[in-house]
Amino acid sequence: MNYTVMIPAAGSGQRMGAGVNKLFLKLGEKPIFIHTLQAFERDPLCSGIILAVKKEEEEEIQGYLEQFNILKVRSMVEGGSERQYSVDACLEAHTEGGVVLVHDAARPFIKRSVIHDLAKEAKQHGAAIVGVKAKDTMKLAPTGTVEKTMNRDHLWIVQTPQAFRYEVLKEASERAKKDDFLGTDESMLVERIGHPVRIVEGTYDNVKMTTQEDLAIGEILLKRVLQEDEE
Ligand code: C5P
Repeated sequence: MNYTVMIPAAGSGQRMGAGVNKLFLKLGEKPIFIHTLQAFERDPLCSGIILAVKKEEEEEIQGYLEQFNILKVRSMVEGGSERQYSVDACLEAHTEGGVVLVHDAARPFIKRSVIHDLAKEAKQHGAAIVGVKAKDTMKLAPTGTVEKTMNRDHLWIVQTPQAFRYEVLKEASERAKKDDFLGTDESMLVERIGHPVRIVEGTYDNVKMTTQEDLAIGEILLKRVLQEDEE
């Protein structure tokens, strides 16, 4: 079952403190976002990639796409000031319906089996997201004093990709726009229109490259992936 993936890559990555878009930083021999794009380029079920970029970075990104032979990018759109607006711009460029995935360019270690489980679940139920179970004890403490210990079995740490039947995400995005609602992920937009969102269990190594520590972990994960590919 085929899907289209929308990849927001128009952030600045200030928490990385690199002075450039963190997605250009290298993991092994390739920029972070190229690892992410290759996961989809190599997946036979991925029928196309829509990429949101900053206008001033478009040329550099185009150069990398050519260098690494990424052929599935069918539209490059201008991202917005918030991640949600970058995803909106991707949605504007998509007219074909079907199952759409949204995946952060900053998560290069997404596994194909997880993508496939997710796309299947979204096709069946309309909306599905990837998450992992919380490993640590979780407390609710909005003012800095513990109010309550949460039941860990009910808590999920949510990642991307998040997958939707096109019409579900489109309606959620339009309603958010109308209400001036800004969420931290696509699922929030879909939850608020009352559509159920399924969770698919992912892997702990699907980390978002946010700080220098993540980059160090990323180098270790990459060595493991390369070793597995050789075996
Ligand atoms: O900053 P953060 O890592 O949370 O961003 C997640 C993803 O969203 C990144 O791939 C980033 O490039 C993208 N993004 C975007 N437009 C923004 C902010 C972030 O496309 N305005």
